[in-house]
Amino acid sequence: MHRSLKTTTAAAAAALILATGTVLADPVTDDELVVNGELELATEAEPAAHLDGALGDRIYSGWRFRDTETRAMQKDDFDNPMFLFVDAGLEAWDTAEGTEGKSCADCHGAIEDSMKGLRASLPKVTDKGELWSLENFVNDCRETRMGAEAWGWNSQQMKNMTAAIGLQSRGMPVDVAVDGPAAPFWEKGKEMYYTRFGQLEMSCANCHEDNYGNYIRSDHLSQGQINGFPLYRLKDQGPVSIHQRFVGCVRDTRGETFQAGSQEFRELELYVASRGAGLPVETPAVRH
Ligand code: HEC
Ligand code: HEC
Repeated sequence: MHRSLKTTTAAAAAALILATGTVLADPVTDDELVVNGELELATEAEPAAHLDGALGDRIYSGWRFRDTETRAMQKDDFDNPMFLFVDAGLEAWDTAEGTEGKSCADCHGAIEDSMKGLRASLPKVTDKGELWSLENFVNDCRETRMGAEAWGWNSQQMKNMTAAIGLQSRGMPVDVAVDGPAAPFWEKGKEMYYTRFGQLEMSCANCHEDNYGNYIRSDHLSQGQINGFPLYRLKDQGPVSIHQRFVGCVRDTRGETFQAGSQEFRELELYVASRGAGLPVETPAVRH
């Protein structure tokens, strides 16, 4: 009884995914991501050795799986709706807050210099041996150095700031540490990536590894890379954080999800980031 129920569920899940002919399903090949007519961002790269061929011989940005209009919006910062939020983040960078009366700029100076390259290396292990995402670093400064209140993980202010900081690494290849103190976190993230969730009993890999290029309902499945986050999602008409996207994907399997900011999602973030090692940071990307 239980067994046949399981089989039915798996069959239902498989039926969701519509394998089309390879030609139609492939990532687009006749377009290039050149931003503002000058910044060329590679949208494919050689897979990291640790992937062991799991993604074939190329890794691809999610941009390659979106439609022409969505791709076009990311080619021009004036058309990219995320720049409204980047601007708000830049303003917050210069704004004094909290009991210490300090702004981010008072200590860090110009965001263009002090935050350059940071996004490409996150999440990373701190001196205290904890795995931190960008949001953790921002809130640590707010609470312990500014005497200001922490921002919610998915709050508008936090997404404005992470977008403004992420932009300073645009074009730099994702390069997260997966060895040394990061290794145990990475292993846990990897385990989670291959764990089946929810009523549909589907893992991240079932969609983003086994079926990228195929369609699920009307969505062209990508490899689920995070090099463009936080990004503007047309469907939500607003910015979306990495963990917010994870929550959405787990919910789509009709599963119980972890909280944004949780230890589990930071480990998953590290592992997913490492699957995109070598792809340039695209922050802030546009998706549908
Ligand atoms: C009172 C000084 C001070 C203020 C104000 C401050 N920071 Fe920091 N911040 C630091 C110090 C010190 C560190 C740790 C040393 C380092 O890595 O630069 C740090 C680290 C960071 C890091 C991690 C950098 C890295 O390379 O690992 C980020 C991100 C960051 N701060 C963002 C912010 C943001 C955003 C604000 C404003 C909301 C802010 N900080 C306000 C002093 C400050
Ligand atoms: C049932 C299929 C399914 C499962 C399972 C699933 N996703 Fe997704 N995911 C999607 C769809 C559909 C999209 C939107 C189209 C796309 O980019 O693939 C998406 C998008 C994403 C994106 C955004 C990519 C981009 O470039 O914008 C990320 C990141 C992601 N998923 C990560 C995950 C992770 C991590 C898991 C496991 C916790 C997971 N997904 C599980 C279907 C799934």
